Amino acid sequence: MDNKNRGSFSGSIGFILTAIGSAVGLGNLWGFPYKMGANGGFPFLIIYLIFVVFCGVVVMALEMSIGRKTGKSPVLAMGEIGRQYRIVGWFSVLCPTIISGFYSVLIGYSVRYAWGFLLEIFGGNGFDGMGGGDFFGTYTADVTQVLIFTIITLVGCGIIVAGGISGGIEKFNKVGIPGLFVLLIVIIIYNFTLPGASQGLTYMFTSKGMEMAGTEFDFFNACRVAAGQMLFSCSLGMGIMITYGSYMKPEESISRNAWIIPAADTLAAIMAGLAIFPAVFAQGGTPNGGVGLLFITLHDTFTSMGSIGNIIGFLFYVLVIFAGVSSLISLMEVSSAHFIDSSEAKGKPVSRKKAVLAMTAIIFVLSVPVCLDMLGGSAITQLPLVSKIGCLLDTYDFFTEGLMMPLAAILMCLIVGWKKGPSWYEEEMEKCGNKIIGKSFFRVSIKYITPAMMTFVLISLALSYLGI
Ligand code: PHE
Repeated sequence: MDNKNRGSFSGSIGFILTAIGSAVGLGNLWGFPYKMGANGGFPFLIIYLIFVVFCGVVVMALEMSIGRKTGKSPVLAMGEIGRQYRIVGWFSVLCPTIISGFYSVLIGYSVRYAWGFLLEIFGGNGFDGMGGGDFFGTYTADVTQVLIFTIITLVGCGIIVAGGISGGIEKFNKVGIPGLFVLLIVIIIYNFTLPGASQGLTYMFTSKGMEMAGTEFDFFNACRVAAGQMLFSCSLGMGIMITYGSYMKPEESISRNAWIIPAADTLAAIMAGLAIFPAVFAQGGTPNGGVGLLFITLHDTFTSMGSIGNIIGFLFYVLVIFAGVSSLISLMEVSSAHFIDSSEAKGKPVSRKKAVLAMTAIIFVLSVPVCLDMLGGSAITQLPLVSKIGCLLDTYDFFTEGLMMPLAAILMCLIVGWKKGPSWYEEEMEKCGNKIIGKSFFRVSIKYITPAMMTFVLISLALSYLGI
């Protein structure tokens, strides 16, 4: 903590909002609502909540404890537990860097869409007179434009991260996250004035959703989908909460934060569904998820609302940008923190600005092939490894969300739960007289329940990505 380049959060609200900022992202907006409807509705929500409690809350507390106890970013933090565990920390440098390589491209798309709707509000031609599918196809094929919007995103986020923890990241989240919830509420209220909006609720909360999405209930598949979604959505298994935890003040309650952050993330995911599906159904659209939902279905939905749709569309994409940026800066912070800490440990300290600049450049290099791949429209997708998984974006996602994240979560539970034992993390969680909310729950989960559930996730996610 003595490194002047590290910094710390100014207080609990700043920390909580920043961690929620990392958790609430594109995953909440395009992943959760669709998956909930397509995988059983209410029963899916219950399965998801079980994973949130037994894996999300537990790994969140574990990561924050590791971070604060060691005061270091993941590689050095894991190395302090045991030299041989540094490899787990390395996942935490690789994973966020790879995810940033596609996440930045997607936020760049949202910047383009927000700009498009802004032009439309003032009577301009924001989408070259094209509808959802056509515009999206044309835009993604225009690699120069996609690269420009990706650069705008990366430079913007780089400036925030270079500003430091309290001066940049916390400042953005203190405005961005309340702003995000306000935007969600405004859009939800508007949605409920639309005729036919209740179909959105039917889709998300009842078993009719499966009929609407053309799917069938499969318990194991629902578990697998819920678990992968939870890990990604709570930003776990890649050292983000280790890094943020290392900036946390000792008087903060780790267990309280570990309950609040996943709860807020789940709330945001449900609210995102209410901000999306009632409008989609009211305008006669069909449910889908992922890139198609965010950039094609919703574009058509807003366009068919008439002139008010331009305003709602603009607000919606600003919401996506807030959610995306607050997540991307957490990804960029982890890898930059690694540079800062390891250079310090070698006695050749690098300034935060230089570390962020280097990381931004590396992420940009990783994002270029994603832009060139045009979501599967290029020869890159035909490469042997890539074609087995999907497009290049799916491949980045497979190695991170499908492999490294669950693996890191399991290893962290086993290393801390079995090798170090409960007193190691309990001491940290009880610092400054804090009580652990659910002490026995954490003990049993870290050792047995979480690693067992995560192993199931790892195996089934890997198999499903490979289509087995
Ligand atoms: N949790 C973010 C989301 O739901 C994405 C993210 C993943 C952010 C991993 C940081 C780390 O979109």
